[in-house]
Amino acid sequence: MRAHVITYGCQMNEYDTHTIRSELVAGGHRLVDHPGDAELLLVNTCAVRGKPVEKVVSLLGELRKQKRQGRDVTVGMMGCLAQLEEGRAIAEKFGVEILLGPGAITDIGPALDALRGGQERYESLRFKTDLETLIPPAPDALTGFLTIMRGCDHHCTYCIVPTTRGPEVSRPVDVILAEAQAMRDTGVQEVVLLGQNVNSYGLKDDGLPSFAELLRLVAQIGIPRVKFTTSHPMNFTSDIIDVIADEPNVCSFIHLPVQSGSDAVLRRMAREYRRERYLDIVREIRAKVEDVVISTDLIVGFPGETEADFDQTMTLFDEVAYEHAYMFIYSARPGTPSAERFEDMPREVKVERLQRLIDKQKRYAFEANQRWLGRETRVLIREIQADSDYAVGSSDQNHTVLVPKGQIQRLGVHRVTVEQATPHTLYGTVAGARTDAVPLVMAS
Ligand code: SAH
Ligand code: SF4
Ligand code: F3S
Repeated sequence: MRAHVITYGCQMNEYDTHTIRSELVAGGHRLVDHPGDAELLLVNTCAVRGKPVEKVVSLLGELRKQKRQGRDVTVGMMGCLAQLEEGRAIAEKFGVEILLGPGAITDIGPALDALRGGQERYESLRFKTDLETLIPPAPDALTGFLTIMRGCDHHCTYCIVPTTRGPEVSRPVDVILAEAQAMRDTGVQEVVLLGQNVNSYGLKDDGLPSFAELLRLVAQIGIPRVKFTTSHPMNFTSDIIDVIADEPNVCSFIHLPVQSGSDAVLRRMAREYRRERYLDIVREIRAKVEDVVISTDLIVGFPGETEADFDQTMTLFDEVAYEHAYMFIYSARPGTPSAERFEDMPREVKVERLQRLIDKQKRYAFEANQRWLGRETRVLIREIQADSDYAVGSSDQNHTVLVPKGQIQRLGVHRVTVEQATPHTLYGTVAGARTDAVPLVMAS
């Protein structure tokens, strides 16, 4: 069949999509670039907030319309939303034929066989326990996602992920290292170790190394750049900071979600650390890791968040001086403890607070980016844009970097001198390149 996979959600889903695509190719199907050309359309879904769910609903609505107009296409819903009652109801409403939870994506083969055998619908929501299968890297990939663990044992009261992804399971270390070696051998320039809480890797299994030890083992395989996400402040120990500081190819970029600066809110969220402990970690990181970039996730308008609580988030932002932040309006997810127990607050209050936070974030990001002016950094150039004068990449500190495309002969790692900076982007020139190839625009 001509197949296409559409992906929403986090990098775990991108990794899963890569697995689904490999399974489809192994099953003799052909991947097509355009969803309109597909006879099999799989949607890998996210359920973390209301917005990604709305996107899936509107896509499925559109597909149902096309089917009614005569398009012959088999539709599958996979991933986190598929695991939930909410997702199953949506799938039923829109006549989705295949429903596979995030632990059951490799059941795509049996699902297609069942439909071919005359079955109308196929559903599997089991949590796969086999994490030993080696997944080869995509050919030509510059970035390789590598899942080191699945699931989550935390129970943050707002979060649906423990329900969709199940309990934490760490993958065997030899499989992880073999996947990383295969990536190095096919020329992958950057590996991203993935898990909901990578820092708790191996904690439940005596035979496994700690996350800090694993990070060092992966770093020593020799892929030019090693990243990891997401970290949980509770398990972010000093030995991890030491590995980041010691190993030159481990990126000096740390995503450390705090969610709120108020201890009262953190307690109601059931986050297992408090403001001062978080700030201690940040101080240790800044002291040990040169030029580090710290980013975070923040939720505004958690039920019961007072103006004083929100102010604590604002002052925490000032104390950390985050170089980057992802900011979310609280979204009550059906079935989560906070949605069941607490009353949501008015949307206008949430929106207004979010705006104040965004303004602050922009100021800090701009100041932080300005500090790179005139300096050289290593940039992984991933794409030469067809519709602009630039090639795009990311620095070791995870900045988006644009360089004039006339200076790029090949994708990959380049040394770049930063010439201009906006809150979102650095503009630079490639070391040794002719700077007159394309003039840099004045950044606004
Ligand atoms: N495991 C990771 C992140 C998982 S989800 C961690 O613990 O950090 C990514 C981010 O989505 C979270 O960090 C949180 O900021 C946000 N998020 C999760 N549930 C949410 C909800 N119900 N409403 C708003 N934001 C939410
Ligand atoms: Fe969700 Fe909390 Fe687990 Fe992160 S740590 S996935 S926010 S429950
Ligand atoms: Fe979304 Fe599932 Fe990732 S809910 S954020 S796709 S773990």
